Amino acid sequence: MFQHLEPYAGDPILSLNDAFQKDPRTDKVNLSIGIYFDNEGRIPVLQCVRDAEAQMLAEGGAKPYLPIEGAAAMRRAVQHLLFGAEHAAVKAGRIATLQTVGSSGGLRVGADFIKRWLPGSAMCMSDPSWDNHRAMFEGAGIAVHAYPYYDPATGGVRFDAMREAIAALPARSVVLLHACCHNPTGVDLSREQWQQLVPMLRQRELLPYLDLAYQGYGDGIAEDAYAVRLLADSGLSFFVANSFSKSMSVYGERAGALSVVCSDAAEAELVLGQLKATVRRNYSSPAIHAAGIVSRVLTDPKLRGAWEADVAAMRGRIQTMRRSLHATLSAKKPGRDFGYFLTQRGMFSYTGLSAAQVDRLREQYGVYLIRSGRICVAGLNTGNVERTASAMAAVID
Ligand code: LMR
Repeated sequence: MFQHLEPYAGDPILSLNDAFQKDPRTDKVNLSIGIYFDNEGRIPVLQCVRDAEAQMLAEGGAKPYLPIEGAAAMRRAVQHLLFGAEHAAVKAGRIATLQTVGSSGGLRVGADFIKRWLPGSAMCMSDPSWDNHRAMFEGAGIAVHAYPYYDPATGGVRFDAMREAIAALPARSVVLLHACCHNPTGVDLSREQWQQLVPMLRQRELLPYLDLAYQGYGDGIAEDAYAVRLLADSGLSFFVANSFSKSMSVYGERAGALSVVCSDAAEAELVLGQLKATVRRNYSSPAIHAAGIVSRVLTDPKLRGAWEADVAAMRGRIQTMRRSLHATLSAKKPGRDFGYFLTQRGMFSYTGLSAAQVDRLREQYGVYLIRSGRICVAGLNTGNVERTASAMAAVID
């Protein structure tokens, strides 16, 4: 029955993380997967999350199925977090929000919806982007193209080329954009660049699809929602898939949401209905535990304050590691410009290392990063940054 199957090659990120776990070397360094590790190399369980879980345990509530669209308290809290509680689009009820199985679940539900209701639309994503963006949209039967984005020569954005490519897309094309902390490059659009992009998206009748997986790791929780709010202010219809995996350190809880900003409340009702139909056909309804954590942390003032402080601390530790890596590498390789470690934002940096150099780092030094040269800066700590910088200096000619 199954002998004709092709073997699965594995996912480039998850397989590398698995290989790291199996590596017996004690001084190995994991810069592969986008997970925040603390200075001791552990995945933190935030106190606000523990407290939310303790509340849930004490309440001893039943565990019914959630509605298809997820818990009302979480959906409301997500809208307030992303757009601001007082935003006109929130008040007008013109945003359809579903709790989803991580933001990946949201991305895929949105892609299935687009395939069904905007059948001719192709998706265009940044070059490069998170590998799974292509896989998810192609998996939904949508053609995927790319617009120029990262400039290896400057370590910045090829903004003019990006705009030119986007301006040439047919109307109703989906434009996938990273709202902050671009994965894999760490190179974000500036506020001025977003302001230039939005009128063009509107004029060309394009459909922006924002991925907001790293909220709080760039400049701050509200600051990182800048692009979301700018698009909502502009009156455009658009999608935004957001995740709490990184910001609440709840990876395995699969806590995410999908919001679709529509032109009015009646349209939002229609969109929500069809998104619900898509979910019911896929996984029926999302997870009640994730909803309990997220809604409590976002709405209980004490938990919310603790969470905001935790996110600021995680962001600050990553920035410290960026400075350490930059300083150590600059000292070891004088004359080379490693300034991109300081200007890139969020969990990731694009090192410019070749696949061969990455292989050497892994095989010879036990330092694991993606073969594109992406490092997860959150895998660095005061105990391994020096060793990592030395290994990187050794493979750089
Ligand atoms: C990453 O890019 O490493 C993370 O988003 C984890 C994943 O699922 O790929």
